[in-house]
Amino acid sequence: MKEQLKKIEELAKAELASCTEIKSLDELRIRYLGKKGELTAILKQMGKLSAEERPVVGQLANKVRADIEEALSEKLSALKASAQAAKIAAESIDITLPGKPQTIGKLHPLSKVENEIRDIFMGMGFNIADGPEVDDDYHVFEALNLPPDHPARDTQDTFYINDKILLRTQTSSVQVHVMETQKPPIRIISPGRVYRSDAVDATHSPLFHQIEGLVVDKGIKMSDLKGTLEMLMKKLYGNNCKLRFRPHHFPFTEPSCEVDIMCFNCGGKGCSMCKDEGYIELLGAGMVHPKVLEGCGIDSSIYSGFAFGLGLERMVMGRYSINDLRLLYENDVRFLEQF
Ligand code: DAH
Repeated sequence: MKEQLKKIEELAKAELASCTEIKSLDELRIRYLGKKGELTAILKQMGKLSAEERPVVGQLANKVRADIEEALSEKLSALKASAQAAKIAAESIDITLPGKPQTIGKLHPLSKVENEIRDIFMGMGFNIADGPEVDDDYHVFEALNLPPDHPARDTQDTFYINDKILLRTQTSSVQVHVMETQKPPIRIISPGRVYRSDAVDATHSPLFHQIEGLVVDKGIKMSDLKGTLEMLMKKLYGNNCKLRFRPHHFPFTEPSCEVDIMCFNCGGKGCSMCKDEGYIELLGAGMVHPKVLEGCGIDSSIYSGFAFGLGLERMVMGRYSINDLRLLYENDVRFLEQF
């Protein structure tokens, strides 16, 4: 019987050695150590043994069982470890492969220049004001000294929602909203979209952007307007840029002017970009008309103010030498990528 037990141990260990799968370990355990297994079969015959032999064989049988169990669990750990290693090897990532390119968008040139202008004005102590794009006739025209039959309305023909409600033709309407709700001192700019029923061409679009500026305080003079605009343009276009203030007429300012900048392209000599003028028109401006101040409840004998409205598209086109306004709206990535 002792030999039989030793043989079982040898056989079990030999079989274990050639085992390559966890599943076959279970079969092996059942075959050798199970209730109907080989070791149990031998133990069942213990009754035949003499009283002296029984404990000796019993001890040996227990040792054989323990040895086989230990060998089984060692093998199980080894098989598990190699299965894990195989899995890791199969899942490994080849980090030498190039990654998938990520295309990251960027700000539109209109937004870029607008942000720059916002920063410059905020540096000069201005606040940003917002106003409605759909507004009433009073704020867009009447409060700005453009009564119903004023001829200047024709040049700003727009999209009417009904007789009284329209898409604003100019951000100057924000001046009225601000003066109705704030007391001087006022120092704001208001960037936003405006609408006019213009046909699309290289310099016109039914939708474009303006940045309105308004300062109202005691003792505000035309020289404050000049200084502010010169500071803006020098920061945007460099210290060598030159501005030209031309007399003009706007119903909501008195006196009024238009401001031109020396052509970026030819430096004032005249070229196709400035239509041989040497200067490019940038904005309209002036001293806020006393009638406008009074209409908004501000005493014009105490307060004065300046205002301006600049076309953002024009600033962007000058900044980047873009010769067709439509490029700014077509959203062709080949164009937008260049900024
Ligand atoms: N609103 C004018 C326009 O659209 C521009 C303008 C001119 C705005 C003079 C002003 C101003 O605030 O004072 O052409």
